[in-house]
Amino acid sequence: MVPRVAVVGAGRVGVEVAKHILLMDLADVVLIDVRQRVAEGEALDLSHMAALLGISRSVEASGSYEAIKGCDLVVIAAGQPRKAGMSREELMCANARIVKGIAEAAACYAPHSVIIVVTNPVDALTYVTWRFSGFDRWRVMGFGSMLDSARLAYAVSRILGVSPSSINPLVLGEHGEAMAPMLRLSTVFGTPLTQVLTPEQQRAVVDEVRRAGSRIIELRGWSANHAPGAGVALLARAVLRDERRVLPVSVVLDGEYGYRGIPLSVPAVIGRRGVLRIIELELEKSERRALERAAAVIKEILRYLEELGIGTSQARHPSSDL
Ligand code: 2OP
Repeated sequence: MVPRVAVVGAGRVGVEVAKHILLMDLADVVLIDVRQRVAEGEALDLSHMAALLGISRSVEASGSYEAIKGCDLVVIAAGQPRKAGMSREELMCANARIVKGIAEAAACYAPHSVIIVVTNPVDALTYVTWRFSGFDRWRVMGFGSMLDSARLAYAVSRILGVSPSSINPLVLGEHGEAMAPMLRLSTVFGTPLTQVLTPEQQRAVVDEVRRAGSRIIELRGWSANHAPGAGVALLARAVLRDERRVLPVSVVLDGEYGYRGIPLSVPAVIGRRGVLRIIELELEKSERRALERAAAVIKEILRYLEELGIGTSQARHPSSDL
């Protein structure tokens, strides 16, 4: 059977995700958006692209979440995009309600699916998706640190004059200002970046990675879509082909790294059932502190969420249910 992926949200990111899924010949795609005509137009354009390239995957469009029915994988890319000067956290209010509705629909129409959350603030919305889908935590993962890690590889590659693919980058924690770039655990020719880069270069690359998302918005007026689209498709491939690749994804922790009931990006083995295993790395004190800062920011957003009334009584999982 050809796998089927629902991409919810036909904005710039959702369309890029759908495009890369097709280019990788991974699955049939249904593009869902409340703006049905937009979804239809994008699906038609993508269908023509597939026809040109000889890719025999179908792309459908729908204005209803019911189209999630029978999907193996649901990508949540719906919501407001981040605008200039807006933090990812400010998006919370608008996007949490949208994501809650999609999580509930996924539980209803595709109860055995895996969900990838892309909408920002992605870590907190991974938590919202987990709570309202009622899925076990392994089947809900957030995409963010993979992008930050790619940005780290790119920044370092330019300093060292080697290809980004020769660098094994690792950014953990949160997809936001409090991200935790792990330079000691990121390597090039098997050597930690902390040994290859000067302290000044280390500060510069961390700064570049932290500001990358905002920089793109400043330059062109809208947020990143090409790299997120490609990255989510890679994550989707790891799931659909049961690749068991180790990738940093946001997942609700249950004791790992000393956290419980908090979504944090950690390295995980990704396969057909979603997160198969979390890799617990030995962290040094400063690295644990960086993760703690990320967790503190996410906890704050989750508290705000409770105040908004999203995530308490009606959730399929009570907050303590792991
Ligand atoms: C980024 O980091 C928008 O979260 C996205 O570019």
